[in-house]
Amino acid sequence: MASKSVFFVLMTVLLAYYIYKPLPNNVEEKFKVMLLDATFRTLGHAGDLAELLGVKHYMDVMMLLTKVEHTEPVSDEYVTVTDTSFSNVPVRIYVPKLQSEALRRAVIYIHGGGWCLGSASMKPYDLLSRQTVKQLNAVVVSINYRLAPKFHFPTQFDDVHNVVKFFLQQSTLDKYSVDASRIAVSGDSAGGNLAAAITQELLHDPEVKVKLKIQALIYPVLQSLDLNTPSYRENGNMPVLSRTLMVRFWSEYFTTDRKLFEAMLSNRHIPPQEAHLYKFVNWSTLLPKSLKNNHVYHKPEYGDSSFVKKYPGILDTRASPLLLEDEKLKGLPLTYVITCMYDVLRDDGFMFVSRLRQAGVEVVHHHYDSTFHGILLLNTLPFDFAIAHHIVDEYLKWLGNNL
Ligand SMILES: *[C@@H]1O[C@H](CO)[C@@H](O)[C@H](O)[C@H]1NC(C)=O
Repeated sequence: MASKSVFFVLMTVLLAYYIYKPLPNNVEEKFKVMLLDATFRTLGHAGDLAELLGVKHYMDVMMLLTKVEHTEPVSDEYVTVTDTSFSNVPVRIYVPKLQSEALRRAVIYIHGGGWCLGSASMKPYDLLSRQTVKQLNAVVVSINYRLAPKFHFPTQFDDVHNVVKFFLQQSTLDKYSVDASRIAVSGDSAGGNLAAAITQELLHDPEVKVKLKIQALIYPVLQSLDLNTPSYRENGNMPVLSRTLMVRFWSEYFTTDRKLFEAMLSNRHIPPQEAHLYKFVNWSTLLPKSLKNNHVYHKPEYGDSSFVKKYPGILDTRASPLLLEDEKLKGLPLTYVITCMYDVLRDDGFMFVSRLRQAGVEVVHHHYDSTFHGILLLNTLPFDFAIAHHIVDEYLKWLGNNL
C-alpha cells in the first residue's frame, strides 16, 4: 500500500515536472498553455524517436494532429461545403446559402503547418472558413496544396499559384457570383508566407487582370536568410513553434537532406556572395527600438555556397517574400499583418510591415503582446483559448470592414 502511494506521488511529481514550463507573466490561461505545449512536445519526441529508429519521417508522426483534426465537408443552414479541385489541386470551397442580388466577396485561404503539415479540413481551419462565410457572406476557397517532405519548393507555391489563377478567371468568378474587385488572399504561418508570395507574384504578372484587394497575413514566415533575429533568440522555446521546429520546416521546404538543417540551425547557410541581400532583413534598422531590446546586431555569419547552389529556393522571393526589392513592393494591395510577441516569427512580420510602409503600401498591423504562435487555431476543444476567439473576431471584423 505504502509503495503504491509513493509510486503515485513520484509519478505525479514527474508528470508535473514534464508539464511545467516557465511562461511570461502576461500569458493567460497558463496551465492550459502548458498542457498544450506538453502535448506538442510529446508528439515531437515521438517523431524524433520514430526517425531515430528509422521507421517514419518526423513529419509523418507530426501529421497525426492533422489527421485527428480532420473533418468531412459538411454543409449546414448557412453554407454549402464541397471538396473539389481547381487546376488539379484539391480545394475545399465554402459557398454562402444566403441569396443576394449583389455579387459576393471572396477569401482565398492558405493553411499553415510549415509547408509540411496541416489541411483545409482540420477542425480549426474548417471553423474559421465557416465563420468567414457567416460574417462576410463571402465565398471561401481553402487550398490543400501538396506538402513536404514528399514535395519540396516550389510545389507548394505552384499549387497555390494554380488555384489562385484558376479562381481569378472571369468564368470561375461568374460561377460563384464573386465580385472581382473584392477578393482577399489570407493565410497563417507558412500559409501567410504563401499568401504574401502569391500576392507579389500576381502583382508582376501582366496576364492576370483581376487585382487582389487585400493580403491578410497571420504571423507569417517571410524569410530564411536570418534565423537568429531577436524574436528567434528570445522565443526559441515558446509553445507550439520552437526555433528548432521552424528551422526544420524551413529546411524540409527545400530538402530532406539534414545538412541544410544543421547549417540553418547555426545560421550559416548563406554564402558571402549574397551579402547584399541582408539589407532586406536588417533588423537593426527595420525593427522598432522596443523589440531590439539589448540585442546587438552582428555582421552575418556566412556559410559555404553549396547550399544556395543546390537549393536556389533559399534565395527565391517566392519562398522568402521579404527578399523582394523595394521597387517591386510598390503597388502591393492593402495589407493586414498579425504578429504575436512570443513567436520566433514576430520579427519577420515587423520587418515586412516596415518595408511595406517604406514602399508606400498601406498596412494595418495588429500586434498581440501576450500570446504565441499558432494561437488562431486554438479556438476549439480541447485547447480553446479566450485570446484565440478575440483575435479571430478582430481579424474577421477588419476583413468585413475592408474587403
Ligand atoms: C544593418 O544596419 C546597421 C545599422 O544601421 C548597419 O550598421 C549595418 O551595416 C547593416 N547591415 C547590413 C548587412 O545591411
